[in-house]
Amino acid sequence: MISTKRIAVVTGASSGIGLATVRELARRGFHVLAGVRKQQDADRLASENVEPVIVDITDEEQVAALAEHVAHDPQGRPLGALVNNAGVALNAPVEAIPLAEWRRHFDVNFFGHVALTQALLPALIEGGDGRLVNVSSIGGRVAFPTYGAYAAAKFALEGFSDALRREVGRLGVKVIVIEPGNVATPMWGKGIATMDELAASMTADQHARYDDLVAAMHKQAEAQKGGGIQPLDAAKVIAKAIEARKPRTRYLVGRDARVGAVVSGLLSDRAFDRFVARSLGLTVRLEKPVDPSTTGRPNARATVWSGEV
Ligand SMILES: NC(=O)c1ccc[n+]([C@@H]2O[C@H](COP(=O)([O-])OP(=O)(O)OC[C@H]3O[C@@H](n4cnc5c(N)ncnc54)[C@H](OP(=O)(O)O)[C@@H]3O)[C@@H](O)[C@H]2O)c1
Repeated sequence: MISTKRIAVVTGASSGIGLATVRELARRGFHVLAGVRKQQDADRLASENVEPVIVDITDEEQVAALAEHVAHDPQGRPLGALVNNAGVALNAPVEAIPLAEWRRHFDVNFFGHVALTQALLPALIEGGDGRLVNVSSIGGRVAFPTYGAYAAAKFALEGFSDALRREVGRLGVKVIVIEPGNVATPMWGKGIATMDELAASMTADQHARYDDLVAAMHKQAEAQKGGGIQPLDAAKVIAKAIEARKPRTRYLVGRDARVGAVVSGLLSDRAFDRFVARSLGLTVRLEKPVDPSTTGRPNARATVWSGEV
């Protein structure tokens, strides 16, 4: 019998926003293929309307197997939605993140989503009125210090989404970007662990340059870990966008995300730099006269981050 249900694929479904989205879409009647990396997560998730699938989005064979699975659905259900949600946190000063880590980060937070999109786009187009949801972040609009890698990958995802929307809108697929602020998920704890690991391998010079900044960001992340909206709040926005006849192209999720977007849009780059520095208890201090012959600028001074003055 051909089912009238539509399939939704959600990546990163083991916890947080992905898990909540799986449950919300299943509740709304989708047959949800819930992408997880570990068998124990798959066993835990299987339930009515939820079919766990093992997919690490950086593994080309697993991505191809998922596309095959969707194309040969035993009940002939069309693919109605793809939610590119999987993600990892990486917080450290730009120069303290080894290049291999930058690449690994982009493999998950950007190229993995490109791979899933390429693999499932044909089915999404064929299914008719498909929805492709990319879970970005307020970090896809605003780049905070130590969030260089995370923001760079999210900015890339935003640009990718804009181009894709203009390519496939006429083929019946609507591309939607979700931009949450702080959501209470395990990501914050994982991010702090990575931050500590990278900080531990900084050189002595890097410690001298960034210890105050890293400490301020650590404190902020610890404070944010306990707060934020619930994953279900983000999941409801995703589900609403998937079911809306005319979804918006972008959804800021949470008050902090909306405020962050407005403030960063109103202020000049330099004014926003000062706002960020002050909110972290850091300020830009002019220090150490610089030999003008090395800068070509008379009266030049080195600018360094310092503790609050
Ligand atoms: N939490 C926030 O405040 C916040 C704010 C803005 C945006 N976001 C975005 O929301 C999305 C979900 O994050 P979350 O907060 O819900 O974090 P989370 O609970 O840590 O969930 C991340 C999910 O991604 C999965 N994942 C990691 N690497 C993967 C890979 N290579 N292949 C497939 N899955 C992988 C994890 O699986 P494992 O369990 O197997 O590691 C987990 O299921 C991310 O894109 C994140 O950037 C979160």
